[in-house]
Amino acid sequence: MRTLAIYPGSFDPVTLGHVDVIERASKLFDHLLVAVGENSAKRPLLSTSQRIDAMKAATADIPNVSVDSFRGLLMDFVELKGAGVIVRGLRATADFEYEFQMATINRKQAKIDTIFLMTKWEHSYLSSTMVKELARLGGEFETMVPLSAVEIIKEALNPAI
Ligand code: PNS
Repeated sequence: MRTLAIYPGSFDPVTLGHVDVIERASKLFDHLLVAVGENSAKRPLLSTSQRIDAMKAATADIPNVSVDSFRGLLMDFVELKGAGVIVRGLRATADFEYEFQMATINRKQAKIDTIFLMTKWEHSYLSSTMVKELARLGGEFETMVPLSAVEIIKEALNPAI
């Protein structure tokens, strides 16, 4: 049976850590669907279509990866797509509590398991929140994100009139 895995996140913006998780997960499953969603606890910098564009460009070379967006509950999207598993990256102990809650709720309600891939140590300090902060305040963020995201972030910060 072919396994469709869903990798959900807000990806605001996609980082090199996300791309690493996608590359590794794409080797474990037949198809990986990257699902760009909304995290109600976060204020986004990029619009959904900007996040999708950056993600599509960053993953264009990986044949069994596609990108889509969803609104509402992840578990509804998972059921709609008929996915067999959810993939999430895990950086450090700080991620655990939140991930544990989300994985447990999704398993109880949608009967779907979440598989965690440990982020490579060289990416373990990266977060979209830090990238946004650096970008907003004029810090160096370009080495933390795929090239595709750099121009999109700059454009979002200084929209051409
Ligand atoms: O990259 P993030 O911000 O950690 O991703 C979080 C995301 C978007 C996967 C999560 O907030 C989510 O699934 N949002 C959709 C609404 C939902 O299903 N919430 C979780 C209930 S357990």
